[in-house]
Amino acid sequence: MNSTIKVAKRTLLNNRRLNYTLPTNTKLYPAQWNWDSAFIALGYSNFNLDYSFKEIETLISGQWDDGMIPHILFHIKDLNYTPNYKAWNCGRKISSSGITQPPILASILRIIIERQKFSKKEIKKHQTLILKIKKYLEWFIRYRDPKKTGLISILHPWESGYDNSPLWDKSMSKIKIDSKLSYKRKDNKIVKKSQRPLKIDYDRYVTIKNHLRELNYDPKKLYFKSKFNVVDVGFNSLFLKALKDVNFLLKFIGKSSIFLKRYILLNESKLIKLFNSRKMKFKNKDLKNDTSIEIPSITNFFMLFADLNNNLINRELIKGLKKYYKNEKYFFPSISSKHKSFEEKRYWRGPVWVNCNWIIYQGLKNKDKKFAEIIRKKTINLVEKEKFREYYSCKSGLGMGAKNFSWTAALYLDFKLNRS
Ligand code: GLC
Repeated sequence: MNSTIKVAKRTLLNNRRLNYTLPTNTKLYPAQWNWDSAFIALGYSNFNLDYSFKEIETLISGQWDDGMIPHILFHIKDLNYTPNYKAWNCGRKISSSGITQPPILASILRIIIERQKFSKKEIKKHQTLILKIKKYLEWFIRYRDPKKTGLISILHPWESGYDNSPLWDKSMSKIKIDSKLSYKRKDNKIVKKSQRPLKIDYDRYVTIKNHLRELNYDPKKLYFKSKFNVVDVGFNSLFLKALKDVNFLLKFIGKSSIFLKRYILLNESKLIKLFNSRKMKFKNKDLKNDTSIEIPSITNFFMLFADLNNNLINRELIKGLKKYYKNEKYFFPSISSKHKSFEEKRYWRGPVWVNCNWIIYQGLKNKDKKFAEIIRKKTINLVEKEKFREYYSCKSGLGMGAKNFSWTAALYLDFKLNRS
């Protein structure tokens, strides 16, 4: 067996705790993260299906009564992380953060189930999981689009999963930092300061979080009162695909949901309007400040993952993507290197992330096989050269951030062992 495959498996197993897996084995992220766990479950499905389902079940065990699955579950009350479980002060049976992350879990569960070629009876065994994910997606529709606009809002940059992306700069600049803030960062002691979000960003993250806590994380209030309320193209694309995938899975357990089906149509029609194919530009909406955001981010191309029912737009998206990374030795940079906000080494402001490449690959594989295959091979080569790092430079390929990063190992396995 290829030795990198062996090391990838070992990396996941070493990061595994009781029925869930840490994003890395350093102290950087000592808990279970929502979308990390979904990618990790996919990785396990290539060699240990039991661990794969355990990972998902543990994540879902943190679901709140209202349906939300938090972005972090603190199974162990480790105080080494900021903000830790006390600072969030929430969660039900399991301590957690009070916000969520992209619900890619739905799409990953579908891939796992389809690849296993489960019979209807076997799918039924996972009925509870499917219904809980359905409830999670309904939570978004109910509380993150209470005005029924057809687009879902995120209420904290951390909810996007691409924390310090320049996408949020304008909205974040409007946030007045709480003068009584008191917290101690640990992340920039573990990874080079020059690669992590700035102090001013962190002060604002914590300010928004504290305000959500003051509102008791009441989902009915947060949308209207949060200091940050943005409709993001990438997030809505992942959400739309999640809806489609849950809708698909529901059929196997003899259920359906008109509520979700209607939202699929509405969400798709509204999402498409955020893309201007003539100017090749995407528009995020800052609902709090009633402005728009136009930043060339790889996450805009998650629209390909949404499997839009529109070949013309899909073709335009592919054209745009080819232009986006043109002349880049390693791709995809999280922010176009031609944009003024690009920073080669700072977290979500430029580096290449393997999960983004995987999402784009999945979106392309049924639209442009040749291009998809290039992405698959280039990503594999980059990881084999630099090992399982958190992110990589698009200029030199240099691996940066955490080492032994779980989703990089998991998605490497997935790239290497599957073409569908
Ligand atoms: C950071 C990333 C986020 C990820 C988490 C754990 O916050 O921005 O996407 O889920 O770390 O790896």
